[in-house]
Amino acid sequence: MRYPEEIIEEVRMKNDIVDVVSGYVRMQKKGSSYFGLCPFHNEKSPSFSVSGPKQMYKCFGCGASGNVFTFVMNYENYTFGEAIKMLADRAGVNLPEIEYSEEMKRKENYRTRLLEVNKEAAKYFFYQLRAPQGEIGLRYLQGRRLDEETIKKFGLGFANKTSDDLTKYLKQKGYDEKLIQDAGLASFDERYGMHDKFWNRVMYPIQDINHRVIGFGGRVMGEGTPKYLNSPETQIFDKSRNLYGLNFARTSRAGNIILCEGYMDVISLHQAGFTQAVASLGTAFTAGQANLLRRYTENVYLAYDSDGAGTKAALRAIGILREVELTGKVINMQPYKDPDEFIKNLGREAFQERIDQAENSFMFEIRILERDFDLKDPEQKTKFHKELAKRLCQFEVEVERDNYLEAIAEKYHVGYENLRKLVNTYAAQTGLAKPVERPKSGVKQKNSPEENVKQVQRLFLTWITDEPSLYSKIQKYITPRDFTVDLYQTVAQKLFEGIESGNYNPAAIISMFEDEEEQREVASLFTTKLEAVNTKQERERAFHDILVAVKKNSFAYYSEQLGADVQALNQVVEGKRALQELEKTHISLD
Ligand code: UTP
Ligand code: MN
Repeated sequence: MRYPEEIIEEVRMKNDIVDVVSGYVRMQKKGSSYFGLCPFHNEKSPSFSVSGPKQMYKCFGCGASGNVFTFVMNYENYTFGEAIKMLADRAGVNLPEIEYSEEMKRKENYRTRLLEVNKEAAKYFFYQLRAPQGEIGLRYLQGRRLDEETIKKFGLGFANKTSDDLTKYLKQKGYDEKLIQDAGLASFDERYGMHDKFWNRVMYPIQDINHRVIGFGGRVMGEGTPKYLNSPETQIFDKSRNLYGLNFARTSRAGNIILCEGYMDVISLHQAGFTQAVASLGTAFTAGQANLLRRYTENVYLAYDSDGAGTKAALRAIGILREVELTGKVINMQPYKDPDEFIKNLGREAFQERIDQAENSFMFEIRILERDFDLKDPEQKTKFHKELAKRLCQFEVEVERDNYLEAIAEKYHVGYENLRKLVNTYAAQTGLAKPVERPKSGVKQKNSPEENVKQVQRLFLTWITDEPSLYSKIQKYITPRDFTVDLYQTVAQKLFEGIESGNYNPAAIISMFEDEEEQREVASLFTTKLEAVNTKQERERAFHDILVAVKKNSFAYYSEQLGADVQALNQVVEGKRALQELEKTHISLD
């Protein structure tokens, strides 16, 4: 599936990257670039930059880079086809219809096929729920007080007792067994052949933020185990980077997000009007999910189960939220087990009250901590106070620390001054908490020789992309052939041709590649981090060094492939001479 290059280019040109990215990231102008907080990793100070002249973005923290298409693909979790549709729409460009021939269909990229087969499965389950054999499932959902509208909204369905009907259905629709297995919908068994993963369960399709089905959770009818069965992770289903219900919650106007443990909790809350509820996907809450939430809100309310396991999970989630600088609040569900039961028994207003009264997550942690100490025993009490002081040290900002100190002192009847002294003692011993240091991907590592060769080629291409006018000065020394990695060579060729014909356009080159991995790599060729050098002399030297290194590598690479005849020897001698000359040549960057 591919649009003509001119159309891709038209769509790209009509969507200025600064405009598009501004719709997602708040940015400030500095020089010819715009800077903001990177939407692809967690950071406090902006290292994400967008260049108008290059029509590209680059994050110096995590290394993400690309053009307007790759931005939308990464941010929205879109395939290239979806990204171009959205951007064409945005700019009012009419895309030509693409005919799907059998040939093209086979070639279509695998992600799209996985999405299709999941969607087809969801449709099948949805249909089964209303068929006679699905009555037990429908009655179950009704028994849990879900109304028709809610069942539809979440696309709930039913997997029959028969253990291979989904597979049969999908095969008859033209999906092959490998795809069905790769999607986690069935597996192969020596004895029984292909059999469905889910049977006799009500089915909860899991959707990504764009409402596409990426996996399933299935709840057993009655008391079997496991109670919930989930799709395995696949190319399209990353459990640590999606949240159940986020496709709806992201457009809720509540101004907060409610994080729950279970699918049913999310569904009940949405039905009661809390459309900001989400849940993790049968696994513990992860840092990736916290980052995802941070895109949408600063206020996260935890609505975890009120039992011991739920409390433990909540404490872990609080820690993870804190790492991305979100302060969670904890909703008290007592006397009920979870939001679903709470809503059923006390209703929507009562739940809203609980939201309003939600407890600050630090105060929640301390309240749970207190349970481990017998405060009637002086020794235990001292230990508790010491632990309080230690925990208060995690607040680096003095006002904040002091506010918590005051609140804790009051609530647990500790003398404010005493506690403050204790905190200071600890702070002096161990220092105040430092923000979590994450390894930067940009740190210099010792590279292999091949990596070094690639690195200088990337540096060179980036430099020329930054200053295309330099090209005319070095044109006679360099050819695309000097770039010894296939992909780099193609890119150099297109870049040089573009500059020669007065058509310098790096962002367009990215979209000439079909494969998403290749696009990423091409983008990285144009956005390698160049060492900051100040004086003109230093810059000239640096550029000269890079140019010579590229030529040296190229010379070594091709000499190795030459034969031992006279002609080859002459070539080597000639190459060496040219190289020596280049080493002596001064190239001015004026
Ligand atoms: P719960 O056991 O609290 O489920 O698990 P629940 O939502 O209250 O279930 P109902 O109300 O009895 O239907 C919470 C979440 O943990 C995951 C699921 O994502 C579930 O929604 N889970 C639980 C599993 O993945 N597997 C299991 O066997 C149990
Ligand atoms: Mn429940």
